[in-house]
Amino acid sequence: MTDPSFIIVAIDGGAASGKSSTSRALSEKFNLLHVDTGSFYRTMTAELLRAGLANNDCAGIATVSQEIDFDTKLDGRRAQMKINGRVVPDSEIRTAEVNANVSHFAAVPELRDALLAYQRGQVDVARSHGFRGLIMEGRDIGSVIFPDADFRFFLHADPIERARRRAAEGQTDSITERDRLDRTRKTAPLASPDGATDIDSTFLNLEQVVDLLSEKLRDRLPPTT
Ligand code: CDP
Repeated sequence: MTDPSFIIVAIDGGAASGKSSTSRALSEKFNLLHVDTGSFYRTMTAELLRAGLANNDCAGIATVSQEIDFDTKLDGRRAQMKINGRVVPDSEIRTAEVNANVSHFAAVPELRDALLAYQRGQVDVARSHGFRGLIMEGRDIGSVIFPDADFRFFLHADPIERARRRAAEGQTDSITERDRLDRTRKTAPLASPDGATDIDSTFLNLEQVVDLLSEKLRDRLPPTT
């Protein structure tokens, strides 16, 4: 029997807009499976670079992507992508090289197609492990992956504040350039989806953002903590 109270929460937003920390906190609070689709695009980018593919080689990207075996490993409440039996560690997917290439690879429709069913399939992973729902973050979750999600949020923050947050994580990352590429691509561009609640977190701390979103979720799902 499927649980009618199972909820899907979509969180979209630009680079370093606070999606991951917000999603992680909400997944703990409401017992939701946390799916960071940016880490999927990063994992694929690392793999395709390793295979020697250029980020404009659409045919090569399609061929290699179709041969990959996708699976999911749980790390607490977080879904980690396994490709060909391996979880590619953060040390390999958060490098300057991946940061510089990921938005170029993510603009290739063949790569997005290859990840579509896998991303939607995370609902089954969440249900089969007894989660009360799924919180998925990315750029096209409320628009393409789950346009009928129960909740859709779009996080903003001033670019200077976002660059400061990324630098504080010790990463070399051109977030404005990635945002430009993500917003202007033809397939699944970054934009606030119809009906989404927009939140500007420039002057809010994590707790305040989590409280704002929790208020909305609480109507459907009492928190577990
Ligand atoms: O570093 P940050 O957390 O801001 O980005 P990310 O969520 O790790 O995503 C890295 C890149 O993957 C983005 O800049 C997009 O180019 C791409 N991406 C996408 O195209 N669609 C998604 N649903 C998620 C990420």
